[in-house]
Amino acid sequence: MRSHYCGELKETHIGQEVTLCGWVHRRRDHGGVIFLDLRDRDGLTQVVVDPDTQEAFATADKCRSEYVLQIKGLVRARPEGTTNANLPTGMIEVLGKEVTVLNASETPPFPLDEHVKVGEDIRLKYRYVDLRRPEMLEKLRLRSRITHSIRHYLEEKGFLDIETPILTRATPEGARDYLVPSRTHAGSFFALPQSPQLFKQLLMVAGMDRYYQIAKCFRDEDLRADRQPEFTQIDIEASFVRDEDIMNLAEGMAKQLFKEVLNVEFDTLPRMPFAEAMSRYGSDKPDLRIPLEIVDMGDLMAQVDFKVFSGPATDPKGRVAALRVPGGAELSRKQIDDYTKFVGIYGAKGLAWIKVNDRKAGLEGLQSPIVKFMESVIDQVLDRVDAQDGDIIFFGADKAKIVNEALGALRCKLGADLNLYTAEWAPLWVVDFPMFEENDDGSLSALHHPFTSPKCSAEELEANPAAALSVAYDLVLNGTELGGGSIRIHDQAMQQAVFRVLGISEEEQREKFGFLLDALKFGAPPHGGLAFGLDRLVMLMTGAQSIREVIAFPKTQSAGCVMTAAPGEVSPEQLKELNIRLRQKISAEGLAEGAEGAADA
Ligand code: AMO
Ligand code: AMP
Repeated sequence: MRSHYCGELKETHIGQEVTLCGWVHRRRDHGGVIFLDLRDRDGLTQVVVDPDTQEAFATADKCRSEYVLQIKGLVRARPEGTTNANLPTGMIEVLGKEVTVLNASETPPFPLDEHVKVGEDIRLKYRYVDLRRPEMLEKLRLRSRITHSIRHYLEEKGFLDIETPILTRATPEGARDYLVPSRTHAGSFFALPQSPQLFKQLLMVAGMDRYYQIAKCFRDEDLRADRQPEFTQIDIEASFVRDEDIMNLAEGMAKQLFKEVLNVEFDTLPRMPFAEAMSRYGSDKPDLRIPLEIVDMGDLMAQVDFKVFSGPATDPKGRVAALRVPGGAELSRKQIDDYTKFVGIYGAKGLAWIKVNDRKAGLEGLQSPIVKFMESVIDQVLDRVDAQDGDIIFFGADKAKIVNEALGALRCKLGADLNLYTAEWAPLWVVDFPMFEENDDGSLSALHHPFTSPKCSAEELEANPAAALSVAYDLVLNGTELGGGSIRIHDQAMQQAVFRVLGISEEEQREKFGFLLDALKFGAPPHGGLAFGLDRLVMLMTGAQSIREVIAFPKTQSAGCVMTAAPGEVSPEQLKELNIRLRQKISAEGLAEGAEGAADA
């Protein structure tokens, strides 16, 4: 139906008869001449319809925003003084000769260029209108280029694209499962995969050697700007590999992708042990664009007569640490109070500070609510952070977990607020993760997933699980965890040792992972892999603020879809077929308060 896309017309087309199809972006009536900005996936072209072409003029006169048109006309140069340098087609216009309305449109729920004024709910409800915006189209186009580049890279390296089931058993990745009731097995449920983890390992046992998949994953967890309940992984697994091999493959892929799509070149990615990341940045996904670092003060603060500091400093699980912010002495009382509130979100009970106005002036040159408690060590404190005039030094003192989270988040917030970024892109590998993390009740959970290989023997692992490190690696970019993976356990005895440490009984092991344990008995090769979060990758590469912006039809913060009104109620007949009786209707608030689940199979 078309000869050209609207956005592709330029001066070389002048004199050509063209046929365009698209939507009316804007219609303007200029003293007897009608201007239609016609828009399609590729851009905008200005069409001029004058009263001489009577029929076309009459049709153009009826057109409103978002009408779908086919227009035949002649490309001509715009008259002098009316060119538009901001528009790729701004040197030309099309003199419309035939205008056909392919479809009318009601007044759209919001004008495309006023999307900011409407809430995200309205944009999501009319997502098909929202997606017509050029920025949105551009993001999805880039997403497509990204997956194309990745597929190309992996296919070249001999990876096979293999699909794995969506209706399956639980795959533990640390979130709640989405469950699907079975009609044919009354009272039983499928779980949607939190990742293809178990299947890709089974594909390695099957000898597929190199697998990849652009895979949908489902996790029922609290949502944030970089989390969706349904998201996409670039999932990779290979046999007869060491961690080096997988990291080199993934790093090569990321480098090629950034070069091809954004023309950005990365040097070899730095590698940082988990312990160092936590100590210097308070996070296992440090944003290395920000030059601020967290510095330990425990040994000095153990000596001071200020309980708030000396307590955590002498507690093995405590931490006292400082964050020096160059130029921060300019911060007002109000700003410091706001940062104190901010760290409160992470459980910090306060945010002590010292302003360094004039170091040479000694105590006189410092301004602070806490210096009076630490006069005996103040020189050492200032030396350790290399304090300069004009700095502010913030302090956190609490359980190490709280201090790390609070100062880690404060570091990122200060980086953004004071625009301290020193680079546009800062990728790195975080390595040497602990195998387990301790829950509040003292039990252990797998830090990644329970199939991750430890760096030690099964005996050492069981003797001192809290100290065990894993052969796992995360790729972090600008403070976001883009991907992660590990070398897997391919030995049944080791796998069972890990389950024992996690307190998963033999019975439960068989019940949940019997098929995996069986597979490990039948010649499982050494194997490993990783998965990238595609949505997060596209979010970073497009500069989007949320992953909802780079997913065509995302879910809202409350994990629903306002367009299709999913999840929705089902008929009593359907429930009966599924052998499900609803206990009672529980409102969303009721659920939040921790009411029991609604399904009673
Ligand atoms: P992991 O759980 O770290 O590893 O997930 C891999 C990557 O997926 C992305 N991701 C998400 N993106 C959007 N919304 C979510 N809710 C979400 N959850 C995770 C992140 C993350 O780095 N099977 C292992 C991988 C492996 O070991 O090979 C796994 O799923 O970018
Ligand atoms: P207070 O003695 O409670 O008035 O606290 C003195 C200063 O220490 C204030 O600036 C508080 O914000 C700060 N503060 C209190 N508790 C902590 C803590 N756990 N970590 C860091 N600073 C704190």
